[in-house]
Order: sequence, then structure tokens, then C-alpha cells
Amino acid sequence: MTEICLSFENLTLGYQGHAAVHHLTGTVERGSLTAVVGANGSGKSTLMKGIAGILKPIGGTCAMRYRRLAYLPQQSELDRSFPARVIDLVSLGFWQRRGLMGRITREDMADLARCLEAVGLTGFEKRPLDSLSGGQMQRALFARAMLQDADLILLDEPFNAVDARTIDDLLALIGCWVAEGRTVLCVLHDHALVRAHFPRTLLLARRPVAWGPTRDVLTAENLSRARGFQEAWDEVAGWCDDNPVSGPAAAHGHATGKAVANV
Ligand SMILES: Nc1ncnc2c1ncn2[C@@H]1O[C@H](COP(=O)(O)OP(=O)(O)O)[C@@H](O)[C@H]1O
Ligand SMILES: [Mg+2]
Repeated sequence: MTEICLSFENLTLGYQGHAAVHHLTGTVERGSLTAVVGANGSGKSTLMKGIAGILKPIGGTCAMRYRRLAYLPQQSELDRSFPARVIDLVSLGFWQRRGLMGRITREDMADLARCLEAVGLTGFEKRPLDSLSGGQMQRALFARAMLQDADLILLDEPFNAVDARTIDDLLALIGCWVAEGRTVLCVLHDHALVRAHFPRTLLLARRPVAWGPTRDVLTAENLSRARGFQEAWDEVAGWCDDNPVSGPAAAHGHATGKAVANV
């Protein structure tokens, strides 16, 4: 029997009274790998923040069944001018295991070295963060996620401003995480990459447009519907003028009976 890691019930997330994501209903299976795609402003980062608990739902629910969460924000949201080194950033991965004041043991340091080696950053321990390339920074964030030993891993555009070799290395790490039974949700833009490596996809346009097996979601028809929703969106409209009850069936990540669910 499949286990559910995340379930959404008519979830609405937003800012200052405006919905950025609404009418999201569905489930994410434990050990699954899902791409989250959509145009700029379609609510991908908002959804990641909602799942991470940084944004509280304005409506509906987001129920989670996991022990540890790792969240890698979009690079544009990271302040790299902060005077920190690679080892400081990666060591934050101990926080969930040890608490802020917990002592870091010799075994922990061996773990940290193992994670840095796995991402190809051995020898970078003392490098200041502001001296790293985009790819190296992303490798460091992946090392931190490994150290967190998380059951659910949220990656927001991890391949932006990253070279092809790093993308291959990071995809291999994601593959290992999924093989270990971890659940991964990853925001990205490159549909070819999604088709090649991500079995499931959630297509967002402020609302779920389609959610299910990638080949059924990334169709010309769904992408065109997503563009339609996005263009029709009124940035200054009232709170939420859509009635989900009168609309077509809600999208489900874990499709039941249908190959893919559309709204
Ligand atoms: N902190 C914020 N305050 C107000 N509006 C925001 C904030 N963050 C994002 N938004 C708005 O929410 C919408 C979705 O943004 P976002 O989730 O970042 O989209 P994406 O990640 O898909 O590009 C956009 O219209 C954006 O302007
Ligand atoms: Mg974003």
C-alpha cells in the first residue's frame, strides 16, 4: 500500500488578502519525485513556502506526514553577503538533529565531510559563500539537505544559473534520495529535464492546471490552458472569486481512476 506524505485540501495561500495559489487539492506519495512547473508568478515558490510552514494557509489545509523537512529556497532569496563559510552553511543541517545548542560530535563532522564529498565540495569548507559560483552554492545547499536527513525535500529552482555538469550531479543525488524513500518536490522550468527525470508533475497557474504522470501533464493543451489562466489573472482582483464547487473536478497528485486530473 502506498503511503501519503503530503495532502492538500482546497488549500489557499497568499499575501495581504490576495490568493497566490488556490483550490489545491491532492496528495503526494511518500518516496515520489514531483516537478512543480508554471510561468513566473504562478505560485510555485508560494506553494513551497506553504509546505515548509513559512506561510500559513489562508484557507483549506496542508497536512504532512514526515519527521524532517529540508527546504532549499530560490537562490534569489538567499543573502550571500552574510559573512559565512561553506562549513557554516552546511552545519546548519545539524540543527534538526541536535538543536541550536547541541554539541557537534566527531561522528557529525565525519558525516559533514561525507556530504561535502558527495556534492564534490571537499576542500571548500572555509570558502566564503560570496565567493562561490551558482553551481557551487547549490552543491553546498544540497550537502546541507543531506545532513538534515530529511524525509521531505523541497527544492525551489535548484538548477537556475547552474552548469550542465552540476545539473547532472544534482539530478543523480535527487535520484539517490528518492531511491532511499525520501519524497522530493522540485520547482523547475526546463520541460525537457522534467520529461527526462521527473515521473510526476504539478502544473500551476495560481491554481493546479494538471497534476499526475509527467507525460499526461506536459501536453500542449494543458500548457495552453495554463497560459490562459495566468493571463486572465487580475493582480488587483478581490480575494478569491472562484467557486471550486461549481468548477470541474479538482486536481489530484495521486490520480485516482484517471491518468491525470485537470481543473
Ligand atoms: N512576499 C510577497 N508579498 C506579496 N506578494 C507576493 C510575495 N511573494 C510573492 N508574491 C506574489 O505572489 C504571486 C506568486 O509568486 P511566486 O510564488 O513567487 O511565483 P513563482 O515562484 O511561480 O514565480 C506573484 O504574483 C507574486 O508577486
Ligand atoms: Mg519562484
